[in-house]
Amino acid sequence: MSDRPPTSDVPWWRRGVVYQVYIRSFADGDGDGTGDIEGLRSRLPYLRDLGVDAIWINPWYRSPLADGGYDVADYRTIEPRYGTLEQAERLIAEAKEHDIRVIADLVPNHTSEQHVWFQEAVAAGPGHPSRQRYHIRDGRGPDGAEPPTDWVSVFGGPAWTRLDDGQWYLHLFAREQPDLNWDHPEVRAEFEAVFRFWLDRGVDGFRIDVAHGLVKDPDFPDLQAEAQQILGSPKEANHVHWDRDGIHDIVRDWRRVLDGYDDRMMVAEAWVAPDRLPLFIRPDEYHQSFNFSFLEAGWKAQTFRTVIAEGAAAAAAVDSTSTWVLSNHDVMRETTRYGLPAGTNWRTWPITGPADALDEAAGLRRARAAALLLLGLPGSAYIYQGEELGLPEVWDLPPEVLDDPVWERSGHTQKGRDGSRVPLPWTADGPSLGFGSGEAWLPQPDDWAALAAAGQAEDPGSTLSLYRQAIALRRRWGAADEDLELLDLGPDVVAYRRGSGLTCVVNMGTEPVDLPAHRELLLASDPGVAGAAATSLGPDGAVWLS
Ligand code: GLC
Repeated sequence: MSDRPPTSDVPWWRRGVVYQVYIRSFADGDGDGTGDIEGLRSRLPYLRDLGVDAIWINPWYRSPLADGGYDVADYRTIEPRYGTLEQAERLIAEAKEHDIRVIADLVPNHTSEQHVWFQEAVAAGPGHPSRQRYHIRDGRGPDGAEPPTDWVSVFGGPAWTRLDDGQWYLHLFAREQPDLNWDHPEVRAEFEAVFRFWLDRGVDGFRIDVAHGLVKDPDFPDLQAEAQQILGSPKEANHVHWDRDGIHDIVRDWRRVLDGYDDRMMVAEAWVAPDRLPLFIRPDEYHQSFNFSFLEAGWKAQTFRTVIAEGAAAAAAVDSTSTWVLSNHDVMRETTRYGLPAGTNWRTWPITGPADALDEAAGLRRARAAALLLLGLPGSAYIYQGEELGLPEVWDLPPEVLDDPVWERSGHTQKGRDGSRVPLPWTADGPSLGFGSGEAWLPQPDDWAALAAAGQAEDPGSTLSLYRQAIALRRRWGAADEDLELLDLGPDVVAYRRGSGLTCVVNMGTEPVDLPAHRELLLASDPGVAGAAATSLGPDGAVWLS
């Protein structure tokens, strides 16, 4: 058991640091090139030493991996490439011994085309009741040869695919991900049972995929919109298939299930307008919802100040705390994002270039500063695996290794998300830098040997050491209060003070700024910034003061 002091008597998730494990790329225990549960289990001591409160594991269910596991064929079994149910149960138990909670990733908007329900619906033919669990409809035009609506998929291309019998099924994502019909009582009952299945196995919470989806306009109107931005979402209230009011009834049902167990939580992946986000975290709905405005802010102090003030106020209004996040498996890693000129479309930049627009050194400096900005805030913080190593996006993966459906569906206009999913470097040598005993499913850049966790653990100036120190200090300085006061230290500075006295200052400008008077310099993102005597902070730097 760990000897950490309890942080306080508030629920753990309100102030927790949650580490996102993209299981396919975290650690490979059996040498087949794909990460797995045993690999993750072997690295639990690393996560304990990092100091995280919980891990969120991306979907680990049986899946053809047409969308990295977000195409679930069976919600009650583990994908054989990842392991077995027994191994999952052992992992949950062992994580608890390290004081680490486990959050599973649940995908209710769609299943895999290989799910037994979809297979049944396809085999049964038009008119069969099994078709009603999905959105399967006749097409328009002569012979129904036109799709039922003009909706487009988030990954590019049409959102409808035609079955051999002539009907069409809806998939807001890939063709292999048919959307479920949440008006169907069996769909609702099945997911309640799936929640219970995992709660009974000891998971502490759920990250709910596409929480802004689920409900569709029953009239299925055309959108007549310009092509949807690939991987974007219009953030419009009561859009025909996003952020519809009917979502909240479903969520309240789930919450009743969770409330039947001790101390469990769920966090929403809801890409919605900031003023709609609090609706998801009302006391009888989700416990948390990712604050994606923080992730999308860009390296601009004014934007961050606004996002922080609004996020904290919106959460407080519904008696929750904000859920801050800078990165995940769907976006370009911030070490690269912050190294691109302001305003760059980082989703298309790997194709359009110019390559020399990227300033890698600035990107890393800013990512380290952003880590202190994130971890000093009240509320909960999510870290995506590899952020603690300062990993950059592998934006130049060769096309032949790309696996994300976005690459094909976008007509090769976007490479997709693989560049953020390259397997972690654990050691400076070995066939996949310690990821496993064989080659990794995506190639790691040669220069990642220098970023390996083992080397960084020994280097007090490394990004890993910065994260470890910040998380340890957060326990001491951020655990007792949820107060936040924004300080005005000039237009290019984001600065705040916590009730404990912890003060965070981040310089997003191009000139040094004066630091406020302080007793102690607790931590600096730039290892060169020395001790209590520091009076100014350089560009792209951050400090914690007391
Ligand atoms: C979420 C996931 C993403 C997935 C999509 C469809 O946005 O984070 O990885 O592709 O949902 O399930």
